[in-house]
Amino acid sequence: MAGQTYVVRTFGCQMNEHDSERIAGLLEADGLRPAADVDDADVVVLNTCCIRENADNKLYGHLGQLKALKQRRPDMQIVVGGCLAQKDRDLIVSKAPHVDVVFGTHNVHRAVELLGEQRVAGRSIVEILEETAADDHESFPSALPARREVPYAAWVTIQIGCDNSCAFCIVPAVRGREISRGFDDIVDEVRALAADGVTEVTLLGQNVNSYGRDLTLARRRAGESVRVRPLFADLLRAVGEVDGIRRVRYTSPHPKDLRPETIEAMATVPTVCEHLHLPLQAGSDRVLAAMHRGYTAERYLQRLAAARAAVPELAVTTDIIVGFPGETDEDFERTLEVAAEARYDSAYTFIYSPRPGTEAAERVDEFVPAEVSAERFERLRVVVERSALARHRARVGATEEVMVEGPSRKDPDVTTGRTRHNKLVHFRSPESLRPGSYAEVTVTAAAPHHLIGALARVTIPARHRTRIPVAAV
Ligand code: 5AD
Ligand code: SF4
Repeated sequence: MAGQTYVVRTFGCQMNEHDSERIAGLLEADGLRPAADVDDADVVVLNTCCIRENADNKLYGHLGQLKALKQRRPDMQIVVGGCLAQKDRDLIVSKAPHVDVVFGTHNVHRAVELLGEQRVAGRSIVEILEETAADDHESFPSALPARREVPYAAWVTIQIGCDNSCAFCIVPAVRGREISRGFDDIVDEVRALAADGVTEVTLLGQNVNSYGRDLTLARRRAGESVRVRPLFADLLRAVGEVDGIRRVRYTSPHPKDLRPETIEAMATVPTVCEHLHLPLQAGSDRVLAAMHRGYTAERYLQRLAAARAAVPELAVTTDIIVGFPGETDEDFERTLEVAAEARYDSAYTFIYSPRPGTEAAERVDEFVPAEVSAERFERLRVVVERSALARHRARVGATEEVMVEGPSRKDPDVTTGRTRHNKLVHFRSPESLRPGSYAEVTVTAAAPHHLIGALARVTIPARHRTRIPVAAV
C-alpha cells in the first residue's frame, strides 16, 4: 500500500535472508518504503528460522515486545513468516493473537495479497502450503522482485527443499521435498543481475549437488530417454560464463554427492571462487551413520583431498555439530582429529539442539549433558581456530583480489572486503572505495577470523548506480 512503511527482521540462514529480500521487494513493489525503525513501521515482518536457534523463545520474545506497540497503533500489521511459521502454524496466533498474518515457506510470493486480505477480513490470517508445486515458478524466491541488501552481490536460489533425512535436521519437514529451478530461469536471472551491476552471485540450495536430479526424473517419467542432465557442474559453468559476473559462489554441497564434475568445474571456470563449504557434521563414523549422512570420515577426507588436488589453494569451510545424541568422548575425539586433518579455514560449529519432529530428538535417553557439550564446543573451537590461523598466516605476502564491502564497522578509516576465498580483509586506502569495487590487496598479517592487508591497486571501481538527475546533466 503506497505511503506505508515496513520492517523485515530476519532470523537464521542465507536462505531466510534471501526470502527476506524478496518479501521486502514485494512490499516495495506494492508501494511501501523501508521504515527507519520498528516503532514507525506500518508492517512488521518477522522471518523466522527453526533450524538450530532457540527460535520459539526468540520469536515470542519479539512478539511480546510488539504487543505494546500494536496496542498503541492498532492499524499496524504484524506478520510472521519462515520455517517456524511453517511448523507452528495456528499455534502462533493462539499464543500471540496480535499477529495479523502467518505464512509459510512455500507462499512467500503471497505476502502482499495476504496483507490485503487481512485488512479486509479484520482478523488474523494463517496460510501455510504443504509444498511447492514443481511447475510453480513463482514460488522460487529468486523469481520474485527483490530489494537486495547490496547492489553488487546477489543470492540466487537454484533449488528448494531437501530429499535427505539427516537425523538432526528439520529442513525436510519445513522446506519440503527437493525441487530444482529450471536451468534457463537461473541463467536468465543471473544475466539480469549482471545487467543490473551485480558481479558476484551465490547459488543457494540445501543440497546443490543434486541439482537437476528431479528435473531429469520428471523428463524420464514423461517418457523421454535422458541422461542425468543438467548437472550442478553445468550450471556452474553456464552461470560462470555470464558476461559481467566475476565471482560465483555456492552453498552447500553434500559430501556424499560431491561429484568429480563439480570439482572440475571449480578448477576450470575462472569465475568460480576457490572456496568449498563442505559440511562435515561429525568425525566419528558411528555418529555419521546415526545422523544418516551417507559417508564415512575417510570418504569425506578423500573427497576433500581430490578437491584440493584439483583446485590449487582451495579454501575449505564446514559445519560441525557437537553433542549429537549418544556422542561419546571417543566419538568427539574423532571429530577433533578429522577437523585438524581437514585443515579448515573456518567452521560454523553448533551444539546439538533437538528439533521436535526429527529422529534424533526422540533419543532423549542419549542426550549429551549441556556442560559436556559446552566443553566439547570450546575444545573444537580451539582446534578450528588453530587451523584457521595457520591457513590465514599462509596468505601473508600474497596479493589477493578483494571485493570491497565498505568501511569497517569498528574504524571508518579502514576498508573491509572479501577475498575469493571469502576471507574478510581489512586495509587502509587513501581514497574511499565504493562498495562493489575490486582491488588487489597484499596480505600483511593474519588473525583467526580475518586478514590485514595493504592496498596494492584498485582494479575495477564499482559501477555508478545512482542516476544523475536530468536537471543536473
Ligand atoms: N542442532 C544443531 N545444529 C544443527 N544444524 C542443523 N540442525 C541442527 C540441530 N538440530 C546445523 C548443521 C547444518 C547447519 C546449517 O546447521 O551443521 O549444516
Ligand atoms: Fe538438513 Fe541434511 Fe538436508 Fe542439509 S542435507 S538440509 S542437514 S536434511
